[in-house]
Amino acid sequence: MFIMKKLNILILAMLMVFTRLSFASEKIYTFGVVPQQAASEMAETWLPFLAWVSAKSGVTLRFVTAPDIPAFEARLAKGEYDLAYMNPYHYTVFHKKSGYEALAKEKKCGTCHAVDKTKVGPSYKNIAAKYAGQAGAADKLAGVIAKGGSGSFGSTPMPPTAGISDADAKKLAAWILATK
Ligand code: HEC
Repeated sequence: MFIMKKLNILILAMLMVFTRLSFASEKIYTFGVVPQQAASEMAETWLPFLAWVSAKSGVTLRFVTAPDIPAFEARLAKGEYDLAYMNPYHYTVFHKKSGYEALAKEKKCGTCHAVDKTKVGPSYKNIAAKYAGQAGAADKLAGVIAKGGSGSFGSTPMPPTAGISDADAKKLAAWILATK
């Protein structure tokens, strides 16, 4: 029972994680995805998304996975993936060990936001478009992510994000601005 429940939570609250990297060069970055589905299903889900991110950002991402969870864990431990989509358990273990940093916690933001459709809140692409080219936008948005805000897109307020660090709020803001 407990284990089932815990597994469900793990699957629901997937984390998107970045390891230390700079986007300056034209290098190809590997994007490792936790093997929770058949490889063919995962490729179907992720390839269009990664192609879209690559086209929009100019950063080339290559989809990679592992034959099974232990192999995925071994590769995470070595820091083999530049970016990785993993669950909170893996994140807890590997952010200390191999230097991965969480970028987006789907459960927290994803209930109200999506990359390119409006949900309770505006899509990330609409946010990026609104602030394109504005000086200080990342800092402003990091402030809203941490403390909440209202009136930029409509009358529904965005709640504060409990326990988020300034650094994480800035990373999320920069990532959202890059989705345009
Ligand atoms: C309960 C729903 C909800 C959650 C959860 C939520 N948001 Fe929002 N968000 C909104 C709404 C509604 C707005 C529009 C607010 C406005 O009009 O100013 C918004 C606006 C924003 C904006 C634009 C702010 C502005 O002033 O232009 C950013 C950036 C943002 N959200 C990021 C995030 C991130 C990152 C997370 C997760 C850490 C998150 N949101 C979680 C509902 C939510």
